[in-house]
Parts: sequence; C-alpha cells; structure tokens
Amino acid sequence: MAERKKVVVTSALPYANGDIHIGHLVEYIQTDFWVRFRKMRGDECLYVCADDTHGTPVMIRARNEGITPEELIKRSHEAHYRDFSDFQIAFDNYYTTNSPENKEFCEQIFAAMKSAGAVTEKSAPQLYCEKCRMFLPDRFVKGTCPKCGAAGQYGDSCDHCGSTYGAEELGSPVCTTCGSTPVVRDATHLYFELEPQHEFLEKWIPGHTSQDIAKKLLEWFGEPLRGWCISRDEPYFGFQIPGYPGKFFYVWVDAPIGYMASLKNLGRFDLWNDPNAELYHFIGKDIIRFHLLFWPGMLKTAGFKLPDGVFVHGFLTVNGEKMSKSKGTFITARTYLDHLPAEALRYYYAAKLGGNADDMDLNLEDFVRRVNSDLVGKITNIASRGAQMLQKKLSGRLGRLDAEGRELLAKCREAGEGIAKSYLDRRFNAATTEICRLADTVNAYFDSKKPWETVKSDLETTRTTLTASLNAFRILAIYLKPVLPVYADKAMRLFGESEWMWDSAARDVEDAALGAYEYLASRIDSKQVEAMVAAAQVKPAETGEVSHESRASKNKGMREEEKGKREEGNGSGDVPPLKAEIAFPDFEKLDLRIGKVEACETVPKSSKLLKLSIDAGALGKRTIFSGIRAAYPDPSALVGREVVFVANLAPRKMSVGVSEGMVLFAGTPGESGGAISPTSEAGAGVQVT
Ligand code: MSP
Ligand code: ZN
Repeated sequence: MAERKKVVVTSALPYANGDIHIGHLVEYIQTDFWVRFRKMRGDECLYVCADDTHGTPVMIRARNEGITPEELIKRSHEAHYRDFSDFQIAFDNYYTTNSPENKEFCEQIFAAMKSAGAVTEKSAPQLYCEKCRMFLPDRFVKGTCPKCGAAGQYGDSCDHCGSTYGAEELGSPVCTTCGSTPVVRDATHLYFELEPQHEFLEKWIPGHTSQDIAKKLLEWFGEPLRGWCISRDEPYFGFQIPGYPGKFFYVWVDAPIGYMASLKNLGRFDLWNDPNAELYHFIGKDIIRFHLLFWPGMLKTAGFKLPDGVFVHGFLTVNGEKMSKSKGTFITARTYLDHLPAEALRYYYAAKLGGNADDMDLNLEDFVRRVNSDLVGKITNIASRGAQMLQKKLSGRLGRLDAEGRELLAKCREAGEGIAKSYLDRRFNAATTEICRLADTVNAYFDSKKPWETVKSDLETTRTTLTASLNAFRILAIYLKPVLPVYADKAMRLFGESEWMWDSAARDVEDAALGAYEYLASRIDSKQVEAMVAAAQVKPAETGEVSHESRASKNKGMREEEKGKREEGNGSGDVPPLKAEIAFPDFEKLDLRIGKVEACETVPKSSKLLKLSIDAGALGKRTIFSGIRAAYPDPSALVGREVVFVANLAPRKMSVGVSEGMVLFAGTPGESGGAISPTSEAGAGVQVT
C-alpha cells in the first residue's frame, strides 16, 4: 500500500456579505470531491475553510441593515455553513477570519514583513467623503471620465472608453453611499513591496500552478513588481494595524491568513510547516493575483511554508451565459435546494469538471438529461433492478460468483487505478465517464443474462447473475463515493458494510444477506428546474421600484473593489437589460421630490413590502408602500432618512392600502442596496442636469 500522506486543502473563503450561489459551489464541490478521494485513499487529509468577514461591503451592509458587522457575519456564517452541509460538503473546520487566531497570525506576519524591510509608507491623494467620514474605495465613487467625459463612471475605469485612472481624477465625483461630493485628501498608506521577490516568484510560480495560469501571471514580470497597498483607513471592519492608529489591514491581507487560522483552530497547525505535509489551495481564476503573487510573497517573507499547489478553476456560466438575476440563472444554493437534490448538481459538476481553468457551463436541459440518463438510468438502475428482484424472489440472499461474473468484476477493478488517477488530477469528468462506461458493461451483462426470464425457471442461475451485477454496482458506487457520499453510504448499508475505502473495491460480497433497499436517486424533472428558475428570477419591474442602473453595478462594485478587478476584469456581477430608451419629455414628466421618512413598518403577510410615512415638507405627508423589505430587515433603519420619490405618480390602490408615490431605490432587494438619499432639504425638487 502507498504511504499515508498528510495533506491540507483549502477553498477560497466566501465573502460574508452575500449568499452562497451555484457559481461558488463549483469550487466547494470540487474541493470536496478531491478531499474525499484522498481520504478514501487513506491519506490524512484536512479540508479547512472560513467566512471572509472583513472589509467595506460588510461594514456598509450592516450599517444599511441597522445591525453590527458582528451580527451580520454571524448570520452569514450560519447560512453558509447550512448551505454547504446540505450540499454534502464536509469541512474539517469552517471558521471565520474575525477570530483571535487570525488576528495573531496577521500581527505576526506583518511584524515579520516589517522587520524584513518589505513594508513601506507612501502618501497619495485619495477621495474622502466628509459625510460618510471615510476614504472612498474606487467602486464607491462615481463621476465623469477624465478622458472621454462620459458620466456615471466608477473611480477606477471608464465603461465607455475603457481608460483607467485614479478616482481623484474624476470630474464632479459623488459618493455612491450618500450622494455628497467628496474632497481630495492626501492619505498615507502601507505597501508590501514585492519587487525584492521578483526573481523568486518568477521561478516559483510555474511549478505551482497550471501552465496557462503561470503564463498569465508572468506577463507582469517584464517590469518591476508594484508594491501592494495593504492598509485601509477607518472606519473599516477588520484588524487594526499595530503601531498605526486608525489604520486597518486590507481584507485581502487577513483573508488568506484565515487559512492558517482555521487550521490552528482545528488544533492542527503543526501541519502547515511540516515538510512531510502537502498544502493545496483551490481558487477561482479571478483571485490568482492574491494567491500566486501576494500570498506566497507574504509567506516567504514571514518564513512560512508556501503551498505545494494552487488549483485554479474557471467561472460558471448557465445556458452559455453569465449568471443573470433577470433570467433567473443567478441561483443561490438555497433556491437550488428548495427544488432539486444536491446529488444531481454534484454529479453534473463532476461530469463537467476537467481540472483546468476553462469556464464551465451548466446547461439546464443537459443537466436534466445527464442526471436522468447516466446517474439514474445507467448506474442506479443496476442496483434498483437487481436488489429488488433479489429481495422479492430470492429472499434477499447473494450467492456465489461464477467465472463470467468474476470476469465482469475484474473489468470493473482493472479500471480502478485509472479512475483514481483521474480523481487525483482533478479530471472528475474523466472519472465519471469511465464509471458510466463500466455501468454500460454491467447493464449489457445483466440484459444478456435475462434474469427476468430465468427467474421463472432457474432461481439459482438468477441468483448468480444478480450476485455479479450487484457486486459490480458495489464497485461503481465505491468509485462514485467522492462525488456522491450520501448515495454511497446508502449503497454501503445495502451490503451490510460500515466503511468504504478505495480498496474496498477489491472485496467480493458472496453468500450474504442484502440489507433493505434504500432509495438512492430518482429522476429529476424539467418542471423542477423551471420552478427553480422562476423562484430565482428578479424582474426589475416587479420589485415595485424604479429600475436603476446602479442596481447591478453596485453589487458588481462590491466584488470588484475587494478584488482589485481593475487588473483582471472578470466580474460576476449581473447587469439586467436596460428598458427601452425614453425621450427627454418623458423623463420631464417625473416629478421627483425629497422627503423624510417619519415612520416605517412591515406589512402583515407581505415579505416584500414596507409601509413608509413620508414628510414631504410643503407637499404634506404621504404613505408609500415600497417593495424594499429585503434590504431593510429592520425597518427602523429607514426612519429619519431622506429619500427621493416620484411625487406625481397616480395613487395606486393595493391590497394593503393606497400608495401615494414611489421611492427611488438602488440595488437589488436582498442585496446591499438602499433607498437613494439626497443631501438637499426636504420638499425641494431634485436637480437633474
Ligand atoms: N473572499 C474572497 C476569497 C478570499 S480567499 C483568501 C472571494 N470570495 S467570493 O465569495 O467572491 O468567492 C469565493 C470563491 O468562489 C472564489 O474562488 C471565486 O473564484 C469562486 N466563485 C465565485 N463566483 C464564481 C462563479 N460564478 N463561478 C465559479 N467560481 C466562482 O473571492
Ligand atoms: Zn458619502
């Protein structure tokens, strides 16, 4: 037997400010396949992960909801953990970056970086919002592009002409949180200097990730490596930088350190620097800079062992397109589980993942077809036909194998090492293809033996046939266990066993009583998929609010500011289609006013609506029902806020009362949007130029 290896495996830490969706699951599910495979091979393999809790988006979202960041991240942690468990993803530890272990490691690594002379202080102009009392990250400011003059562009690059610039170069900048005009202030920041590691990284990278990814990263090495800004100013939800009052570690500093903290919390930090242990990170292609430049740079400088491999996967598309809220293909883990079994998605992802960084498509029709034809029709069918006949006609007892049966099982076993190699190389698609091919062989054997005919005349021959078929199924179920652990456990109980390791496939089960047949997997129906898509669909018009361009960009911005997407340009944000263009006279018809929210309450029996009482100054008071409850779990968060509303909308009689206008809203309900607040006085008209 091969020597038992020690292995630590991580998946990227999901942001605490959003739900787990089927795109994320591409990563966590494949990591789980790999970890389970290694455990089945007898390795000591630990899978650690955590929520990535720090940063501006968490802080702002908590503020919008009127809760503390700690409350927000606690809620996310519970929801994330439940989603992962229900998808049969088995972490050895699922921790949080907001932990004492993480703080300690951050401080230790920072101190080591400083004493190595790798930390510098530099001053640069930056936009500061006096109302929000914070420096504005690029994606929290909008203005006109300094190159082409296009309006409404973010602080890092122009969607219109594609140029990149500094946020302080924008014309008429506005804070996207509060709408006021920011000022330019000089800000001093800490930088982690990477250039001293230029040569080291240039050599290290190619041996630790795939060729195409290494090639992409090495494009940066033609010139000196730029320093990486690792500090953020208060207010910030994160760890304070010792010795720098008011400064915090940028979330991307403490996030990967969170891998260490999770392992430490598990009580196994000894494995990190153990020269005999291996360390692997699974990540998406959007975060390679952080894992293959900054992270190894930090570890090296601080004297920790570097990862042995960084496995990079591509992005999920659904029906050939980016996941889309308006199309109902931006599907959260929970929405999926409300309609379909976890096993179906696990199986489909296995069938599609080839261990490279290509994007992967979830074609919903193909999904239904594959699960039904392969997992149910080919593989599970062997067990259900065989076991049921054996129970009914042969008192559930397996007999002995004959020569032909042994030959069938030998074929299944010969394929075992090839399948194992595919798993190890993360070519899960090759593994499932081979398992399906074996299932074809077993089905062909079953059909050629016609047990449904022999059962009428020759019970013992039938028993021999079923013994071979069921033993063959047993081997296939063992091979499938990394992909379908719960399914495999039920299959295992059918054979009266209590543990399946990879080499359990070598055993024959003869002269034994079969356990009760538990349902393993059933066909899925395209109706379930349709219902799921309908549940996931967000129709801009149906939110009861004005569709606003920043609805999408704001969400996208959250990801992008935190990821420094400027360099990588790979947002997974979802942009709903624009409505038909309108002429200026149409727009002019809208009478936009400002009012103050005097009271705000939930509406009985409605999960969407909030009832707002608005004081519109000279216009008097208004009652407006607004479908923004998801963004304000605590309605009192809106009380006292100024909002912009359409004052001349015809009153609308709703089942809950009459709504006298419409409040403008930016962001997607359920995400981090919010009512648009002006800065001018109640009752004044909105200046539109
Ligand atoms: N918090 C950072 C990671 C810190 S790791 C020290 C982050 N979080 S994330 O929630 O945005 O993404 C978590 C992982 O899911 C990343 O590896 C990311 O690439 C992956 N995916 C997020 N959306 C995805 C798809 N649509 N498709 C495939 N993977 C996706 O990044
Ligand atoms: Zn502001």
